[in-house]
Amino acid sequence: MSAPDPAQLPPFLPPTPAGVTRAAELLRTGVVVALPTETVYGLAAHALDEKAVRQIFSIKGRPLIDPLIVHGLDVDFLSALAHFTPQARELAAACWPGPLTLVLKKCAVVPGLITAGRDTVAVRSPAHPLARAVLQACGLPLAAPSANPFGYISPTTAEHVRASFGSKVPWILDGGPCAVGLESTIVDVSNPNKPARLLRPGPITAESLAQILGQPVHSPDSTSRTDEARGLAAPGLLTRHYSPRTPVALLKPAEPPPAMPSQRCAWVQMCRQNIEPTTPGNTDIFWLSETGNLPQAAQGLYALLRQLDDAGYAKIFCELAPATGLGVTLNDRLRRAAGQG
Ligand code: TXA
Ligand code: MG
Repeated sequence: MSAPDPAQLPPFLPPTPAGVTRAAELLRTGVVVALPTETVYGLAAHALDEKAVRQIFSIKGRPLIDPLIVHGLDVDFLSALAHFTPQARELAAACWPGPLTLVLKKCAVVPGLITAGRDTVAVRSPAHPLARAVLQACGLPLAAPSANPFGYISPTTAEHVRASFGSKVPWILDGGPCAVGLESTIVDVSNPNKPARLLRPGPITAESLAQILGQPVHSPDSTSRTDEARGLAAPGLLTRHYSPRTPVALLKPAEPPPAMPSQRCAWVQMCRQNIEPTTPGNTDIFWLSETGNLPQAAQGLYALLRQLDDAGYAKIFCELAPATGLGVTLNDRLRRAAGQG
């Protein structure tokens, strides 16, 4: 990926009413616009305009078998596209706007291109004020996958989007760094007679979903499933995903990397470790949070992985988080970055 010449590209659309109006105008005319959400930046297009949606797939290099999430302002708006079950309504009432995606039976108006031919559609109401302002101004449902080339790390700043796509995505609404930093939780609540099924762990944990619903959420054990089986549930969740080009090796909490790697490596810690590192020589140390604060670690993870990927390390050693709450989601993304999803 060669760096684009910033002088050749229009400036970022500013986070102002004028920037929002311009983004909405572009979207109405079928142009793809990158915009911030509270989770990661999305590559947005008018969801009912097949030509516009096709551009999303081609820009990302995404296979057509991988369906897209449709974003809308609220349940009322999205009810024109998806059949909300009682469980879906409960979850939306508790979590929207926010980082939760619901998989529901689709309405006829939703093109098969969005859903990869399935009879379900994934819908989400984002919380980011700029995403909401654009949805309000254009009055359209917006299909938006994460704004990264297929398989690479999701973007959490406008600069990340530009670094990956250059002139392929000239219009980027700049909302600064995303507050959450990891993709939304995806839960299938399409069948009112079956328990909710977690398809992708995310910022809203399975425990929180179960508490809201008053019953357990079915969480398939991702480690025991093949790509093929997982692909049937959520086709985008192939094992190698969210991956830097640099090999990633995982470390148990507080475990040091193997002594003296022969090439220059990076060691990413969840929490700044107070112990004197035992492998100083060829290893540069980074930490995601001074105090082990998991929301802070989540917010900075993708930016740090991108930075280290560009820095030319031979390997990135990354410490796993404690496996509870948001740590489960962090570890899911780290395993995928290491190709062990
Ligand atoms: O936080 C997010 O969800 C971000 C922001 C931009 O909203 N979007 C995002 O989209 O992560 P994407 O396309 O990178 O990931 C969406 C995932 C894919 O793995 C896809 O396979 C799955 O959602 N998906 C979409 N529609 C589905 C459906 N009908 N059934 C099952 N999985 C679906
Ligand atoms: Mg993605």
